[in-house]
Amino acid sequence: MKVSDDIAFVGVNDHRIDLFEGQYDVREIGMSYNSYVILDQKVAVMDSVDAAFRDEWFANLDQVLGDSKPDYLVVHHMEPDHSANIAAFMDRYPEAQVVSSAQSFKMMQAYFGVDYSDRGVVVKQGSTLKLGKHTLSFVAAPQVHWPEVMFSYDETDKVLFSADAFGKFGALDVEDDWVTNARSYYFGIVGKFGKNVQMALSKVAGCYVKAICPLHGPVLTGDLSRYLRLYDTWSSYRPEQSGVTLAYTSVYGHTKEAVRELEAKLRDGGATVATFDLARDDMAQALASAFRYDRLVLATTTYANSYFPFMHTFVTDLVEHNYQNRTVGMVENGSWMPVAAKQMREALEGLPNIAFAHNVVTLKGALNDDSRGQLDALAKELLA
Ligand code: FEO
Repeated sequence: MKVSDDIAFVGVNDHRIDLFEGQYDVREIGMSYNSYVILDQKVAVMDSVDAAFRDEWFANLDQVLGDSKPDYLVVHHMEPDHSANIAAFMDRYPEAQVVSSAQSFKMMQAYFGVDYSDRGVVVKQGSTLKLGKHTLSFVAAPQVHWPEVMFSYDETDKVLFSADAFGKFGALDVEDDWVTNARSYYFGIVGKFGKNVQMALSKVAGCYVKAICPLHGPVLTGDLSRYLRLYDTWSSYRPEQSGVTLAYTSVYGHTKEAVRELEAKLRDGGATVATFDLARDDMAQALASAFRYDRLVLATTTYANSYFPFMHTFVTDLVEHNYQNRTVGMVENGSWMPVAAKQMREALEGLPNIAFAHNVVTLKGALNDDSRGQLDALAKELLA
């Protein structure tokens, strides 16, 4: 695949993977690890791929390079899904140099037992690398997603190499909705670092970009404003749309029944609603939905003097990803001493600009007239 006359895609699709980064379920859609080659007087390879795909990557490189040899391996990010084959590359191409941030070279020492400083070009914010017709300008993008991350911008073809930013879950040969899997990827992987994403975006705001080449997912071309607008919204923690996420766990079905009634009341009132059973549905999509919409309801049981484990994971995810600027309602169930709502509120209280719904729904087992009245009140409050 060509990105431009001089830039080729040499990445791979991974359909063997079950959990990306050890936690994100991609069994149905797989994952891509993107790598690119810039063919010029000096040849630059942009990042490597996951360790399991070394041979396929080398075969892709051979096809694009023909008789030429790469002069540089540009390393934008040291996470092993992109960096695993640096040592193999350096062995295969003994004349090549690694181009990366100072911190990356330290990480190479940690991963490969050698830092390649004798074959390295250290770049930082504002550094340039002339390849011939093409010149790469480097942009420091710390914490998008790790601290050593760099973007680079090819001034000639107006291509932004954006590391993990603008990536998504899913292999390139799977048809899916970009925004669904880009949103869950963003909030799962990069979402904690919104300020850093904003800073990185501001550094490239003045660049005219024709194509964005991320390390996962498709090359983005055409009207890029949609992608840039979404990234601005996501990284500034603004809700993307009006709507309610209902995230619940249920042991014997009573909490689920309450959630279904609340869902119906909210829909009847005109709200967009997305409901997730946290024990069965994709937690990453539930988290992304919580960020997508402006209101969230957490419904769960009291469990071992705390609240149910899957909800615990979800609430921890919200806290760790700096959830903010939303309204949160709660439905709790507990047969003798319900404490879930109180404890979830305590867990979320330190987050910025969270408004808790005044009406908390408490069940002590099955729904009854009293708890149905509470559901009515919560629905009305959320719809107001
Ligand atoms: Fe795709 Fe942060 O590595």
